[in-house]
Amino acid sequence: MTRPAPKTFHVKSFGCQMNAYDGARMAELLEGQGMAAASGEAADLVVLNTCHIREKAAEKVYSDIGRLKRADGSRPMIAVAGCVAQAEGAEIPRRAPAVDIVVGPQAYHNLPALVAEASQGRRALDTDMPVESKFAHLPRRRAQGASAFLTVQEGCDKFCTYCVVPYTRGAEVSRPWRQIIEEARALADAGAREITLLGQNVNAWEGEDEAGRAQGLDGLIRAIDRIPGIARIRYMTSHPNDMRDGLIAAHAEVASLMPFLHLPVQAGSDRILKAMNRSHTAEGYLRLIERVRAARPDIAISGDFIVGFPGETEADFAQTLALVEQVGHAQAFSFKYSPRPGTPAATMADQVPTAVMDERLQRLQALLSSQALAFNRASEGLVMPVLIERDGKKPGQRLGKSPWLQSVLVDNDVPHGTILDVAIISGGPNSLQGVAAAQKAA
Ligand code: SAH
Ligand code: SF4
Ligand code: F3S
Repeated sequence: MTRPAPKTFHVKSFGCQMNAYDGARMAELLEGQGMAAASGEAADLVVLNTCHIREKAAEKVYSDIGRLKRADGSRPMIAVAGCVAQAEGAEIPRRAPAVDIVVGPQAYHNLPALVAEASQGRRALDTDMPVESKFAHLPRRRAQGASAFLTVQEGCDKFCTYCVVPYTRGAEVSRPWRQIIEEARALADAGAREITLLGQNVNAWEGEDEAGRAQGLDGLIRAIDRIPGIARIRYMTSHPNDMRDGLIAAHAEVASLMPFLHLPVQAGSDRILKAMNRSHTAEGYLRLIERVRAARPDIAISGDFIVGFPGETEADFAQTLALVEQVGHAQAFSFKYSPRPGTPAATMADQVPTAVMDERLQRLQALLSSQALAFNRASEGLVMPVLIERDGKKPGQRLGKSPWLQSVLVDNDVPHGTILDVAIISGGPNSLQGVAAAQKAA
C-alpha cells in the first residue's frame, strides 16, 4: 500500500552524545529534503534513534513503538535508527510490525531513499557499514545553539567483554582532518561558541593535517582553537590507554580546552578490570590522573562505573570504592552490569544477583553524589565564566555551563552564547546558582 510522502518529522534520540549528534544530522538531512520538524506522534515520520548499551535501553524501543498511535488510530511512519537497529536489524519489524524503516548508525545518510521506499509501501532496511563515509553525503551544519557536538571518531576496537559498541558501531575510524575543520568552521559560522569533539574513543583520533603531518587529538584541538568564534573546546569519551602525552600537555597549554576530563575506569579491582578486558590497572589509572592533574591542577574528573560484573566479590567492589575515594570525582555515571547478547561476559560464570548489584550501586552512588556535592559547594564564592546556553524556568533567568561542566543558573537575561562572569552564590547536588559578577559588585 502506498502512502503520502511524509512532510513533517520528529527525531527522538536516546543513549550517548554520539546518538544526539546523529539525531541532529538526521534532522538536518530531512530538513534539506523540505520536511519540517514537528513534535511526537503528530509528525508524519518519527525516527527513534535508539541505544543498545543496556537491556533496559534496548527494550524501551518496543514500548515506545507501541505508544506511537494517534487518537484516530492512525500512526506515523516509524523508523528505528541507532544501535538497536544495527544490533537487531530485521528482527525489529518481526517483533514490531508497525516499523517501516530500520537504519543503522553508519547508513542514515540513506534515510531519504528509505523514506521513499516506505512511501511505496515496502519495508526498508539498511544496516550496512559502507567504506565510503556517510559524512560525505550529509548537508552542511546549521544553527545549533551556543554549544555543539562534532563527531570526529567512531567505533571501537577495544572489545571490553561487557560491551556491545564494537558490534553496533564497528571498527575505530577517524574522520579526516579537513572534514572536521570545515565542520567546526560551519558550526562557528552558525553561532557555536563551544564545540565538544565526540568519539567512542575520541582520544584515539589520528590523522594528517593540511601539511601532511601526523596528528593526534591534541593537534586537532589546537587547530580548532584557532577558529574565530570558538571559545571553548571539550572532548569525550576517552579511554585511559589512549591518553597520550600531547593531549595531557594540551590541557596545560590551550586556554580554550576546558578543565574537564571524562575518563571511565569502570572498576577498581585489577582482577575485574582484567576480566573486563580493559587492559589497564587501577594503579595505572590513578597514575594517569596524577599526570593530568599535574598539567592542569583544577581539572574536574568524571567517569563511568559498572557494579556487579560477573565474579565481582565484596572485596573487589571495596576496591572500586577505594579508587573513587582516591580520585575525587566532580561527577560520574554508574550502572548495574547488564548482560548483552553476543558479548563474552554474558556467558561468564558467577553472574552477580540483582539484589547484590542494587545494594552496591546504592553505596557507590552515595559516595559519588557526596563527591559531586562537595565539588559544587567548593564553587561557592568563586567568580567563573559561564557560557549561556538557554533560558531558565523563570523569566530573566539563564542556564549555562561552567568551565568544569557544572550547570549554572543565573539571574540575568543576557543573550544565549554570551560568556558571562558569574559570582556563585550556592552549589547544590546537580547545579550552581549565581548572579552576574558585575551586578554583584555594583
Ligand atoms: N567508549 C566509552 C563508553 C561507552 S558506553 C568508554 O569506554 O568509556 C558508556 C558506559 O556504559 C560505559 O563506560 C560503561 O560504564 C557502561 N556500559 C557499557 N556496557 C555495559 C553493560 N553491558 N552493562 C552496564 N553498563 C555498561
Ligand atoms: Fe565499549 Fe570498552 Fe569500547 Fe568503551 S572501550 S565502547 S566500554 S568496548
Ligand atoms: Fe548506546 Fe550506541 Fe551510544 S549503544 S551508548 S547509542 S554507541
